[in-house]
Amino acid sequence: MKRIVIFASGSGSNAENLIKFFQNSDNASVIQVLTNNPHAKVLERCKKLNVSALSFNRIAFSESEDVLNILRSSNPDLIVLAGFLWKFPEFILNEFENKVINIHPALLPKYGGKGMYGMHVHHAVVDNKEPETGITIHYVNENYDEGAIIFQAKCDVKPSDSAEDVAAKIHELEMEHFPKVVERLLNNF
Ligand code: GAR
Repeated sequence: MKRIVIFASGSGSNAENLIKFFQNSDNASVIQVLTNNPHAKVLERCKKLNVSALSFNRIAFSESEDVLNILRSSNPDLIVLAGFLWKFPEFILNEFENKVINIHPALLPKYGGKGMYGMHVHHAVVDNKEPETGITIHYVNENYDEGAIIFQAKCDVKPSDSAEDVAAKIHELEMEHFPKVVERLLNNF
């Protein structure tokens, strides 16, 4: 059984979707969710779904080996960032080379980088009158949103679309594709 650990910072709709998808799988399961936000809705979702979840602070994450030690003992085949907003420390990446992936709600390299997350991305897309946007699933490296791209899916942006309309389209793409891409990656390991 392949082991998935998810990092999330907020609502956790992607985390929930991944957990449910792999609850029906014989090959992989989400064994743990880690969050930097002790008030994140993702913690409630995990409780309902019976998945172990932990919150941590910045010292535990990037100024000590506390989170790294948690990961060492969970021993994941894949670490999935699903709406996780802190930069991933290099010393953790070094120990999990090519095993950390992220989902970004735009067609990278457009609309990536520090501060580009959630609704900020969709507002920028609408403000710039982009005719299309989409999702990108990519490996994580030491720079925000710059690792090698694994998968992209696109959707149209109509001139009348609001940022909320775009968010709804992106949500649909994420729900459809993210678990399948994770499954495919794990099958190639
Ligand atoms: C998702 O749309 C994800 O792509 C985005 O945050 C949302 C989290 O939603 N991630 C980023 O913007 C990362 N830069 P969720 O908490 O409901 O899964």
